[in-house]
Parts: sequence; C-alpha cells; structure tokens
Amino acid sequence: MLHRNIDRRQPMELADKVAVITGGASGIGRALAAAMARRGVKGLALVDQSEAVEDVAAKLNAEAGRVFAIPFQGNTTDERFRASVFDAITQKFGRVTLCVPAAGITRDDLAVRVDKNTGRARIYPVEQFKLVVDVNLIAPVYWALEMIGRIAEDRAARGLKRWTPEEGMQGSVVFIGSISSQGNRGQISYASTKAGLEGAAATIMKEAMFYGVRCSVIHPGFTDTPMVRALGQDYVAKNILPFTQLGRLIQPEEIADAICFMLANAAVSGELWVDAGWHAPA
Ligand SMILES: NC(=O)c1ccc[n+]([C@@H]2O[C@H](COP(=O)([O-])OP(=O)(O)OC[C@H]3O[C@@H](n4cnc5c(N)ncnc54)[C@H](O)[C@@H]3O)[C@@H](O)[C@H]2O)c1
Repeated sequence: MLHRNIDRRQPMELADKVAVITGGASGIGRALAAAMARRGVKGLALVDQSEAVEDVAAKLNAEAGRVFAIPFQGNTTDERFRASVFDAITQKFGRVTLCVPAAGITRDDLAVRVDKNTGRARIYPVEQFKLVVDVNLIAPVYWALEMIGRIAEDRAARGLKRWTPEEGMQGSVVFIGSISSQGNRGQISYASTKAGLEGAAATIMKEAMFYGVRCSVIHPGFTDTPMVRALGQDYVAKNILPFTQLGRLIQPEEIADAICFMLANAAVSGELWVDAGWHAPA
C-alpha cells in the first residue's frame, strides 16, 4: 500500500523534539547533547551521576544561546530517579520522544586468571559482573521502556491503537553498544552487556512499532573520551591504534553525528558499526 500523504520531512527531523540522554556529563553523551542542540531539539534531560552534569548543561545552554538542557544528577539504576526525570522534563518541554541511554561503565579483567604463586584459578567476580549488567544493560533498556510506556499510555488515552505510517514516527531509541560485543579480551562483563543490548533492541523494535517507536544500536569503536583515556596513552598506542584503519581514535562528535542520523532517519533500523575499521586482535 502506498502512503502518498506522508509528510516525508517529518520523520527526518529532530527539531522541536524532547530527548533524554543518560551519561550526559561526559564523552559521547555530552557530544550528543551539543549535536542535538544544533539540530534544534526543544529540550533535553541531561542525566548523569556526576555533579559535573550541572556545569556541562550550563555550558551547552550558553553555547546554544538558549536553555534546552536540564541537568539531572542521579544513578540510572534508580527507578524512582528515572521516573522523576521523565516527569520533570515532560512537564517543562512536553512528551519525550527521543531516548539515548548512554551511561556506561567498564570493569575490565580476564575471565579467568591463574595466580602464579598459588596455581589457583581466580574467576571474574560475580558482583562486578552484576554491577556492569545493571548499569550497561538493564538500566538502558528500562530508560527506553520508560519512554515507550509513556508514549503507549498517551496513545491509549487518545483512543489510538496500532500505529499507522500516516502518523509519522512517534519516538526513537538508540542504545550504545560497542565493538566489544563481538568479543574483546578482558571485557567479559562489558562485552556481554553490549551484546545483550542487541537482543533488547531487536525485541523492542518488533514490539514498540505498535506505538510507532523505533529502536536501534550503534556500535562505536574506540572513541576519545575519558573512558578510553583511562586506559593510558601507551595502551592506546600499542593495543588500539594498530587495529584501526583510521589510525586514530574516533571523536565523540563523529559518534554523536551518527546517533542523530539514526534517531532521525526512519528507514534506519538494526545496528550501525561506527568503528573506524577496527578488528579485534585474536
Ligand atoms: N569511548 C568509547 O570508546 C566507547 C566505545 C563503545 C561504546 N562506548 C559506550 O558509550 C557510552 C558513553 O561512554 P563514554 O566513552 O562517553 O564514557 P564516559 O566515561 O566519558 O561517560 C560515561 C558517563 O556515564 C556516567 N555514568 C556511568 N554510570 C552511571 C550511572 N549508573 N548513572 C548515571 N550516570 C552514569 C558517568 O558519570 C559518565 O559521565 C557508554 O555506554 C560506553 O560503554 C564507548
């Protein structure tokens, strides 16, 4: 069936939309907030557990010459905090239709290592694994579901049922995966969570289109943010740069640009690898 009456520009734009970004005080989340401001988003919740989120929001607003970014300091694994962020930003700017839960952590270590002195095997601590799962997998999925739930409720209140293309897109989610989802030494917990997001996104994509919401995953390669800088210059030079085709770290602005494209272009689904041609060494 042809839909000639679709406004073809509408699904392509971020202008006047309301967004939630977690991990917004640093790296990719921060660059994404700036990129969204340039594309005219009306308002966004900038969420981070770091108190730096206040300063970052103030700077973004000064750069944009308007108050669009509202800082929220808290832990993304806290359900009440999550609901309160959505309540507050919706009250200020209107319904949230863009969600990029970018907050993430690493707790890198080999899955199994044998102590040279005792000969005993030490396996990766399960508490660490659970923490990384909570922050990198469960929290991003629930921030997305919070938005989708509110969109679904709003539609139900208006008597709307299955979404139709004539309505235009109602919302968009981008999860931040990683090239590590394909396997990376020393990242048993991190890699598992990033691969987990692929399954979550594929399922949300199938279910949430009932409400007109899309979901996809971006897999950044090594990007020049505090997370990667924490590895140290020597490590980056020896273990990362030789395996990229670009011969440099990716800039957070490059990832932000790709995320905006994924959010705005209704034809994009699935996964996008923005990895500078990185291939994991065996
Ligand atoms: N930098 C890379 O090379 C790279 C590559 C692939 C994927 N990623 C992913 O991109 C996302 C952003 O990473 P980044 O490189 O910008 O890292 P970053 O460390 O610069 O920023 C992450 C931010 O998330 C916040 N955060 C962490 N846990 C939180 C929590 N529980 N509640 C609230 N805030 C929390 C931190 O305070 C920090 O400001 C992460 O999901 C990361 O896994 C990064």
